[in-house]
Amino acid sequence: MTTRPLERTGVHLLNHVEFVYAPGERALVRSFFEALGFRVLDPQTDPTPPELGPAAGPYLIVYLAEGDDDLIDNIVYASEVRPEQWALESALRERLAADGSLRSLQTEHHAAYARMPQAMTHVGLAYPSTDAVKAAMERLAEKEAIRDRLTLSEVYVPGGPGSVDDRVTQAFVYTDLLSVGLLLGGQQFELQVRHDGA
Ligand SMILES: [Fe+2]
Repeated sequence: MTTRPLERTGVHLLNHVEFVYAPGERALVRSFFEALGFRVLDPQTDPTPPELGPAAGPYLIVYLAEGDDDLIDNIVYASEVRPEQWALESALRERLAADGSLRSLQTEHHAAYARMPQAMTHVGLAYPSTDAVKAAMERLAEKEAIRDRLTLSEVYVPGGPGSVDDRVTQAFVYTDLLSVGLLLGGQQFELQVRHDGA
């Protein structure tokens, strides 16, 4: 049986995040999550557990814990963007293409992720060690098919250059492959290790 922190009084649990990707980019998104170090199940192509059911079809299922098969907690889903969102984003892209000042604002926004990743929006992922974070960042850097869709930071270790918090190792990856909001805004992830014993 799955042990859930919710057994403790007053606990809420961040249980899943639902991302979207652009039409045609399912395989690239799978390879992104695999490079981060996670097992990905694609109900459209992989053998699937019976409890998954047909409703799972649209979703890539990303297990964050090795050996875990819990479909509800500590999990990430990614599916193709809905037509309503894609229509809005397509219209926004047309405006961006036609408006130089708007486009430069977008360029500035994107550049801010590389300049100050800690201060920009992101989803944080816990890793067991600095070596595990470095390995994930190296795998991402070596993925030819997605390399030009990623902005990778340095790995910031406590006391090292660029570190802003001695309690954690941090590394950041920004991508336009997927988003928990508008794909135009991209998505940043933080790969983090806690060193404060908690
Ligand atoms: Fe953070």
